[in-house]
Amino acid sequence: MTTNTKNPPIDRIDGRMKVTGGAQYFADFELPNTAYCVIVGSEIAKGTIAGLDTKKAQGAPGVLGVFTHQNMPPIPGWDAPVGGEADGPPPRPKGEQYRILSSPKIHFDGQPIAIVVADSFERATYAASLVKATYTKQTARTDLRKHVSDGVAPRGEDGGNYSRGQADGYKTAPVTLEANYTVPIEVHNPMELHGILAHWTGASTLMIYAKTQGVNATQQAMAEAFKIDPKNIHVHTEFMGGGFGMGLRTWPQETAVVAIARKIGRPLKLVVNRSQMFTLVGHRPYTVQTINMGADQTGKLIGIAHAATAETASYEDFTEATVNMTKFLYACPNVSTRYRIVRLDRSVPIWMRGPGEATGAFALESAMDEMAHKLNLDPIEFRLRNYTETDPERNRPYSSKYLKEAYQRGAEAIGWNNRKLQPGSTREGDWLVGYGMSTGTFNAFRWEASARALLKADGSLTIQSAVTDIGPGTGTALTMIAHNVLGVPMNRIKVEYGDTSLPKAPTQGGSAIVSAVGSAVFDACTSVKNELIELALKAGGPLAGRQANELTMADGTLSVEREPGKKVAVSDLMQANKLTVIDKTKDSKGGPEHAKYSMYSFSVHFVQVRVNPLTGVVRVSKAVSVADSGRIVSPKTAASQMIGGVAGGIGMALTEEAVIDHRFGRFVNNNLGDYHVAVYADVPAIETIMIDKPDPIINPMGAKGMGEIALIGFAAAVANAVFNATGQRVRDLPITPDKLL
Ligand code: MOS
Repeated sequence: MTTNTKNPPIDRIDGRMKVTGGAQYFADFELPNTAYCVIVGSEIAKGTIAGLDTKKAQGAPGVLGVFTHQNMPPIPGWDAPVGGEADGPPPRPKGEQYRILSSPKIHFDGQPIAIVVADSFERATYAASLVKATYTKQTARTDLRKHVSDGVAPRGEDGGNYSRGQADGYKTAPVTLEANYTVPIEVHNPMELHGILAHWTGASTLMIYAKTQGVNATQQAMAEAFKIDPKNIHVHTEFMGGGFGMGLRTWPQETAVVAIARKIGRPLKLVVNRSQMFTLVGHRPYTVQTINMGADQTGKLIGIAHAATAETASYEDFTEATVNMTKFLYACPNVSTRYRIVRLDRSVPIWMRGPGEATGAFALESAMDEMAHKLNLDPIEFRLRNYTETDPERNRPYSSKYLKEAYQRGAEAIGWNNRKLQPGSTREGDWLVGYGMSTGTFNAFRWEASARALLKADGSLTIQSAVTDIGPGTGTALTMIAHNVLGVPMNRIKVEYGDTSLPKAPTQGGSAIVSAVGSAVFDACTSVKNELIELALKAGGPLAGRQANELTMADGTLSVEREPGKKVAVSDLMQANKLTVIDKTKDSKGGPEHAKYSMYSFSVHFVQVRVNPLTGVVRVSKAVSVADSGRIVSPKTAASQMIGGVAGGIGMALTEEAVIDHRFGRFVNNNLGDYHVAVYADVPAIETIMIDKPDPIINPMGAKGMGEIALIGFAAAVANAVFNATGQRVRDLPITPDKLL
């Protein structure tokens, strides 16, 4: 059964709570007798601690302990052999696990060298300032551009090696292109700082409030680290002030806080500071890419070769899907991809906003624009000439693909007709005007998830799932799904989430949650509905003699479609059967038919830019983003998510870059004053268009994910528009004024 009706836009169920201070984020929780800790970070990027003076800090007012590699309490699960997966799901990067405060060796700038614990945050902060270290320095390698040739395939992986046809088939084409693109280090920088509040409620029972995208993942990670039963670990993260990927794993300092809390016998809270957000919770890795492309004079692609090299830490191999879309986005007989990593003296990266796919799309979709220009073709026309209705990588159909319609509707909305093929030919006053577009795509996943539905005789419905809402409006989407199945009015539905006491759910990420948890909610509600139908239809029941498929359910009433007036109120039905509640929990996952299809969401981004040729300033003056992500479950929150992705895309395109002074291997702009995320003044009114056609395969709602496609490709659309405005091609993000002068 697929929901085929278009869903109405509803307000965010937690909107009022979020804007009135009612929503509690991890750091808002206060427990009696809580102690606070502050991390002291290394001032060098590579070397060894020669001396560490903690005496003054230890003697400072209110200090309960100063923990270093000399006295860090043991973490039993970390005795696991090197190369293990000791810090828990989702699967960790391979490599020698970095063990916080376990040795005097320094692997990256900002690496914790001490954790200072005091009875207040202010006292811990002061005492932390008294810790003094001396180092034996070694030369740090932190500049990927200098070490690209050291790229190696990640441990245990083939390095994204892929080819079909001739790997270098592009060389034989009459029109060829070779271009290098770089995406710098970007940092998630959500408003909310990262951290954890850990409370040992017994010798081996633990309560955790954390900034995590998955409470079950944190539970599992801590269970493995402390060798205790996950059932004895309770993790709560109902709200998050932005995740963007940084909460996709449990970080070593979180585990350290739990260990120290046990040692001092008090609840312990850590909130990292803004500069530590640059080193302790991951980042988008600096990535250099080369695209070789060949096409014939009619605009048919002959070959594409896409090679990416990204930074990782010396101790872990972080990898992401930077080159993957090149394998399937266009019809092209000769395609090859390659992915390499360089181990640097840097903290380990993690997925960030549309992750590797956003990095890869910048290169591929810029190159598509460059090739269209060489061929004197409109960039949409060039894409249409290489459009594919089936997945050329796996030779199987897409579960759904409405990308052509997305190109067309976006082009109309932005006024693509106003675009001149000749760059630099539109001027309005002091500004050059240009248009650009790009395609985005991301896997449409459906992971295993469970959910519980409790329908009470008073007509109210409670939905439960452990899933965390990192911001997209998950609770709102789940409300809509439950409403569609059971017809319970939306104001009678309560969604409880973000807690490990609730049915198990995957980590929120990968644009997968409406699909995964939504399906479980759909199944649990369907199970409730089936029980109601059974009660109504049974011998002696109020609708006996009818068939299940003749019934509809809305506003707390089961009615027979073809017999007006023939109906029974759900509350009456439950009372007649002496039921106070119908309580169903369902575990849900995709069926075997999924293997027959390639499941992806698609997006198209269109922008109009204005470039001032005297100052080099680029303004995004219009943006239209179109999503082909199946049936839209909650149109209002979906549009908000798209708008958020575009704002992130404007940052990626124009301003975001964490800059390292490679003489010291340290960041120079590790604060929000100098690292520029897009702010209100940078973001124009954004038009979002939803194709809103159900995917018949992925799940009963027909909904594919849309978190990542909101961003993927956007930076290329801006770069392409800048080229159209000025004739200048910027291949190194961000497109700052200096690159245009
Ligand atoms: Mo996302 S980068 O899967 O949080």
